[in-house]
Amino acid sequence: MDNKKLICKAIEAMKYSYSPYSGFAVGAALLAKSGKVYTGCNIENAAFGPTVCAERTAFFKAVSEGEREFEKIAVAGGKNGKVTDYAFPCGVCRQVMAEFCKKDFEIITAKSGKDYIIRTLGDLLPENFGKNNLE
Ligand code: THU
Repeated sequence: MDNKKLICKAIEAMKYSYSPYSGFAVGAALLAKSGKVYTGCNIENAAFGPTVCAERTAFFKAVSEGEREFEKIAVAGGKNGKVTDYAFPCGVCRQVMAEFCKKDFEIITAKSGKDYIIRTLGDLLPENFGKNNLE
């Protein structure tokens, strides 16, 4: 699947965002090696702590359906559902990605289908703690 299509799915997923506290809607579209795409949105909570980001929603949906290998993820977000800047995954989401993805996993952060930046997980989370540390 090309980047533009994946980005469009991420932007589309923003409409399901439950973000009454921040007003910042995020959508993500995760491409698994199986070829299936899993979308996610951020889901906020009155207690704040239980809030989950769009990226983790997408990952947890995919993993809970048996996926373990991933190619890339597209992310888009903005205040009041309008994308005006690039939204990069937070540190917690990067750590979740590192559980399942190698350094070359691609993270696409987009303002539109034509305006986007690609970084690898290795770029965004170098020297990470991982399962190898527990061996
Ligand atoms: N958020 C995401 O969904 N993904 C990110 O990578 C950064 C932040 C959400 C969490 C919260 O609902 C809102 O954006 C403001 O932080």
